[in-house]
Amino acid sequence: MLDIYTLGEDILRDECSDVKEFGDEIKMLSDAMIDTLDEADGVGLAGPQVGVPEKIFVVHIRGEEPMVFINPMITETSIETGVYEEGCLSIPGVYHDVVRPLAVTIQAQDVKGKVFTLKADGLLARVIQHENDHLHGKLYIDHLDEKEREKVVKAYEKKNRIRRRTKARV
Ligand code: NI
Repeated sequence: MLDIYTLGEDILRDECSDVKEFGDEIKMLSDAMIDTLDEADGVGLAGPQVGVPEKIFVVHIRGEEPMVFINPMITETSIETGVYEEGCLSIPGVYHDVVRPLAVTIQAQDVKGKVFTLKADGLLARVIQHENDHLHGKLYIDHLDEKEREKVVKAYEKKNRIRRRTKARV
């Protein structure tokens, strides 16, 4: 299990670097990220969220095989956009509607370094865009206008304070 970094940690704002070696290490990291993602009951997790500022993210939609994207690049986005309520394991407990393109094409490498291209729509397209943002230091709240963003951050901070207080008591 890997620790998940949360809002306020600088690493979440870093531009990630390319993964250059495709050996045991990257395979172990991706396996650990999938385990951490499943344990946290999320659908996507990116390198910087577990303290690794490298271009890797994992997606696991329930009922489907987990997927690993390394050095990804979104090469095409649909003109059509949609609204979906997003959350983030790095901003736990709060959610907000985010507008994004409904479909994307992504090119990435797998754990062995093999390049693949994937066309995605629905939830997968949504998660891919959210996770890909993480690799460029961007969070879903950055897609909101200032007022909405402040509301989400305040709600998160309030929840976080309560959680800390509860922890301190036991
Ligand atoms: Ni996230």
